[in-house]
Amino acid sequence: MAAPCSTTDTAEEQRHVVVPIPSPKKGEVLIRMEATSINQVDWNFQKGVARPVMPRKFPFVSGFDLAGEIVELGAGVSEFKSGDKVIAFNFPKGGGLAEYAVASASLTVARPPEVSAAQGACLPIAAVTALRSLQTAGITLDDPSDGAASPRKNLLVTAASGGVGHFAVQLGRLGGHRVTATCGARNLGLMRDKLGADEALDYGTPEGAALRSPSGRKYDAVVHCAAAAGVPWSVFRRALADAGGKVVDITPGFVAGVTAILQMATFSKKRLVPLLVTPTKEDMELVVGLVKQGRLAAVIDSSYPLSRAQEGWARSMSGHATGKVVVEMGGAE
Ligand SMILES: NC(=O)c1ccc[n+]([C@@H]2O[C@H](COP(=O)([O-])OP(=O)(O)OC[C@H]3O[C@@H](n4cnc5c(N)ncnc54)[C@H](OP(=O)(O)O)[C@@H]3O)[C@@H](O)[C@H]2O)c1
Repeated sequence: MAAPCSTTDTAEEQRHVVVPIPSPKKGEVLIRMEATSINQVDWNFQKGVARPVMPRKFPFVSGFDLAGEIVELGAGVSEFKSGDKVIAFNFPKGGGLAEYAVASASLTVARPPEVSAAQGACLPIAAVTALRSLQTAGITLDDPSDGAASPRKNLLVTAASGGVGHFAVQLGRLGGHRVTATCGARNLGLMRDKLGADEALDYGTPEGAALRSPSGRKYDAVVHCAAAAGVPWSVFRRALADAGGKVVDITPGFVAGVTAILQMATFSKKRLVPLLVTPTKEDMELVVGLVKQGRLAAVIDSSYPLSRAQEGWARSMSGHATGKVVVEMGGAE
């Protein structure tokens, strides 16, 4: 089968290669791939961030978000059958940038007809990270105006136009919370008109850099997705509500780790919480269900056929995608 976007152990080199169709082992399914999406973790692997542990073997076929149709079952898999449409999360083995991929049945979920392969491929890493970030920040999905007990909160999402951020905005709004979003000037309209953010801040302005809400609100929770922004803790501290709040940092570095430990040790009311997410089957089922109901949708920045996967890879690496970058196996050349 063709696996046109394999990586070698140098960051520069990507090649189209022909590799054998993988065989599903016990507990695995073989998926005829329809779509995958590219995440920063893909090109972090390529840059060697996880070396010497990963990848273990070259050529390494990247792509951790899988969407396609089951064509073969490994031993012991009874919950699926050939022909089932699914999405799956396959980390750290990857394999999604290819015509066929195997995944563990325990991290594979059914994809209903209402959820396209392209939409489904956007969900495992990005939508589930958004979901878990909100949960970690104490932001519920139940809409308080529907009579649920949880109070409405002020939520800030940084890099809200990105793969994770645009799901966090939608999920925050689904919970009935007041959402402030930071993004580039070109996406201010998208935030307010399409994703439903209450207010949007251009990160290129002094107000945006200070995370200052246009309406003067302070935040109960922040989902921080802006990797390269280098926002100092003092800025978050000023932006959080006096009663306290959490900044969930999904791009944590060393300083974030030390800050979090110090705050925990001193019982600070304002806390930085580093978060690394590994999607579970339940998480994936929840977000697939929301897409099925039309309550959540991936914004697709761009889509590429497998033969032009490197263009999608480069688009993702640019750091300027709006929503998700997708590679579709049957996509038009
Ligand atoms: N912890 C975890 O488990 C986990 C899981 C998934 C992702 N992540 C990490 O989360 C980060 C975000 O991932 P992603 O996939 O959402 O990224 P992404 O899609 O590449 O984000 C791109 C978007 O971010 C916007 N942006 C860039 N700098 C910004 C800033 N300073 N303020 C506001 N917006 C800014 C860009 O807008 P412009 O084009 O206008 O500049 C662009 O629309 C990455 O570092 C990724 O590695 C962590």
